[in-house]
Amino acid sequence: MTHKLFGPEQVVRPGKPLVIAIDGPSGSGKSSVSKEVALRLKLAYLDTGAMYRALTWYCLEHGIDLTDSAAVEQASEIMPLEISTAAATEYVAVNGTDITEEIRKPRISEAVSSVATTLGARTELIRRQRQLIDQHHRRMVVEGRDITTVVAPGAEVRMLLTASEEARLRRRGLQLGGTQSADQLAEQVTGRDAKDSTVVNFTQAADGVVILDSSDLDFEETVGAALTIVGKVIYGD
Ligand code: DC
Repeated sequence: MTHKLFGPEQVVRPGKPLVIAIDGPSGSGKSSVSKEVALRLKLAYLDTGAMYRALTWYCLEHGIDLTDSAAVEQASEIMPLEISTAAATEYVAVNGTDITEEIRKPRISEAVSSVATTLGARTELIRRQRQLIDQHHRRMVVEGRDITTVVAPGAEVRMLLTASEEARLRRRGLQLGGTQSADQLAEQVTGRDAKDSTVVNFTQAADGVVILDSSDLDFEETVGAALTIVGKVIYGD
């Protein structure tokens, strides 16, 4: 079984559910790999991290104290969020304001863990994530930290994309164009993961979750390995 089975025209399990849940830490290459898998398999795509980022933007915009968990939870319920579910289009808007670029800025990255560790807000975002999966007839690549375990534990394919700390720091550093010091980078990557892992365990694979270690793989190889895992899980060895 090789990933070559999945050519550009291949529709896998036509008409049947195919949720591919991909969890992993920052800098594991999760977003770019998940998008590419969705494109190749013609599946919808959901970046759940973008939803936590959008909620952070919304709270900051409305002067909500991020340590006030009741207020953050309420914000999660009323936020009018629009998020693209097509891998080829990145688009996030709140109440018609395009915040696609804004949510990637350092002020959001630095604050997002506060929001992501607010359990009431998680409950609401998880509800919205499940709704989006259902709206796409359960044919979607969904990436985040708790997709394999909480959001979609019944997904047809569940994988944990990992990479060594060194590889993750290197990739994030390249992504940011060398504009950050080593300390800033380490705080962003490992510091944030440490905070986030207080509420979600995304460093160990749950039962039935396949580990894909991308430390020594380039992008193409990682996509190939992910497709191979999909093939094995769907069609058997
Ligand atoms: O993947 P990312 O950096 O865009 O995620 C943003 C934040 O949201 C990060 O602090 C982890 C958190 N997150 C989460 O707790 N659960 C998810 N399913 C996705 C992201």
